[in-house]
Amino acid sequence: RKGCKLVGCGSAVPSLSVSNDDLSKIVDTSDEWISVRTGIRNRRVISGTESLKKLAVEAAQKALEMADFDPNDLDLILMCTSTPDDIFGSAPQIQRELGCRNSPLAYDITAACSGFVLGLISAASHIRGGGFRNVLVIGADGLSRFVDWTDRGTCILFGDAAGAVLVQACDAEEDGLLSFDLHSDGEGGRHLGAPINDNETDELLGSNGSALDFPPKKSSYSCIQMNGKEVFRFAVRCVPQSIESALEKAGLVSGNVDWLLLHQANQRIIDAVATRLDFPQEKVISNLANYGNTSAASIPLALDEAVRSGKVKPGHTIAAAGFGAGLTWGSAIIRW
Ligand code: ACO
Repeated sequence: RKGCKLVGCGSAVPSLSVSNDDLSKIVDTSDEWISVRTGIRNRRVISGTESLKKLAVEAAQKALEMADFDPNDLDLILMCTSTPDDIFGSAPQIQRELGCRNSPLAYDITAACSGFVLGLISAASHIRGGGFRNVLVIGADGLSRFVDWTDRGTCILFGDAAGAVLVQACDAEEDGLLSFDLHSDGEGGRHLGAPINDNETDELLGSNGSALDFPPKKSSYSCIQMNGKEVFRFAVRCVPQSIESALEKAGLVSGNVDWLLLHQANQRIIDAVATRLDFPQEKVISNLANYGNTSAASIPLALDEAVRSGKVKPGHTIAAAGFGAGLTWGSAIIRW
């Protein structure tokens, strides 16, 4: 089969930093409660003239620079996000900002915190079967815009960010995506979501005086609603199974893997999964203390930091897994 490899990464975060102490001024919480239960101490929040698109473009440009790659040679851009600046999708706008003159295909993928892993597998499928060669995968989310900042159960968890990787076709022996495992469970979806508000109609009366069902009111989305305990249970049950399955398909065991890189949702989830899979602490990548849960951005953001700090080196093997709303979850075994 054709190979595909990751050849560059980049990330971007908003300038506004919000600490646990800052949050304790707007909801009844404390730095101690948040850090003990979640491991989170800070998060970045989009403000002023910043936008998700700008973060995504910055992350993408850094990934292209690392790979010394001309944006005109891209032939696909996948924007993995659940919070696009435009409901019709934001990938074509990112393509425009990057200045790709050859009109590469660009579209959004919506899969919450699993979005980046899904985007990566989609990129590989487009390369292996679809004739594409150079695919930019961006994971970016601005969940702060969908958080109820009066709900201490959820507002402490989330932050905004973007991360990106460039995936390129290569010879089979250089393949950098060794295996994957993807799932969803709509039944469990009730535990985590931000559904559209009921589509009520205006109290309009027709010419005969009876109520009209048309036109509908402008729709809006509710804030993030979450059953934290159920999400926690789902993650620690499904993520280790998924990684084990991906490892088996790659003919590996956890001892052969250099890094465990999970979606950064909660340090207790990361620790529980690492223990279940026999990954020692020093092989676990974690940066959620600084950024909180940045949804589709969390894996490429943590990967970018780990690559640029020299932790992840060429040839290293990474077991990455995303999980979240949908419910969706999935793993990819990557060779950097
Ligand atoms: N500060 C202080 N007290 C709080 C806070 C807070 N921020 N939030 C809740 N509490 C209180 C509750 O009111 C409750 O008080 P009570 O006992 O008087 O009723 C008590 O603390 C315990 O609340 P629980 O919700 O039961 O706390 P729990 O131990 O489950 O921790 C948490 C909550 C941290 C959200 C945990 O369930 C969790 O991390 N779950 C996973 C959530 C997650 O990762 N979601 C995102 C993944 S998917 C995605 O990324 C979109």
